Amino acid sequence: MKAILLSFSVILLSACNQQTISYKEISQRTNGSKDIVQEFAKQLKEKLQTAIKDGGALNAISVCNEQAPFIAKQLSEQSGWDIHRTSLKHRATKPDAWETTIMQSFEQKYADGDKFKRLFAQDVVEINNKPAFRYMQAIETKKICLLCHGESIAPELASKITELYPDDIATGFKLGSIRGAFSIVQYLD
Ligand code: HEC
Repeated sequence: MKAILLSFSVILLSACNQQTISYKEISQRTNGSKDIVQEFAKQLKEKLQTAIKDGGALNAISVCNEQAPFIAKQLSEQSGWDIHRTSLKHRATKPDAWETTIMQSFEQKYADGDKFKRLFAQDVVEINNKPAFRYMQAIETKKICLLCHGESIAPELASKITELYPDDIATGFKLGSIRGAFSIVQYLD
């Protein structure tokens, strides 16, 4: 009974939150999120390509290890939102419950044949009693990603990754599959 009451109140809460934000605002916040994701992906891709060209994949680990969190931090500061990447099979950043559910739904849609541009989701939820707009967008595994996330990783690269991330489970990805997702939190007050 308690569980039923609890889930009922959660539904009520999220229903209330939905009303505090108009469809127009949801669409504005979604578009703002998409822009930031595009910028994040662009900066990361440039850094990654340059680093691999200059010194190989081993050199590029520092891009992912240091630059990715740094770009995310910079964009978060500029926008006032929390911007990060996560994955069901993660190397550094574990997903929370909402992110896990959304990424599972992306996997389902992907299996049903949806294209990447349709793999995004948004919602208004409570995080620590604070209303927040959340957005997620799936990230495709490109050829370059396989170097460090694929099925066969060069031995010295693999040992560097294990050294930095002993709990790494972000390997074994196939070209074109979902590597993870960008995730954005915009607090509403
Ligand atoms: C040179 C090795 C390397 C390459 C190439 C690489 N990554 Fe990564 N990736 C990493 C490392 C290291 C991390 C952990 C970053 C951190 O500490 O935040 C990571 C983390 C991630 C994460 C965050 C989620 C998690 O697992 O913690 C995503 C998503 C991701 N990579 C996607 C990609 C995609 C997409 C590509 C291709 C465009 C790519 N990576 C290419 C090494 C790499």
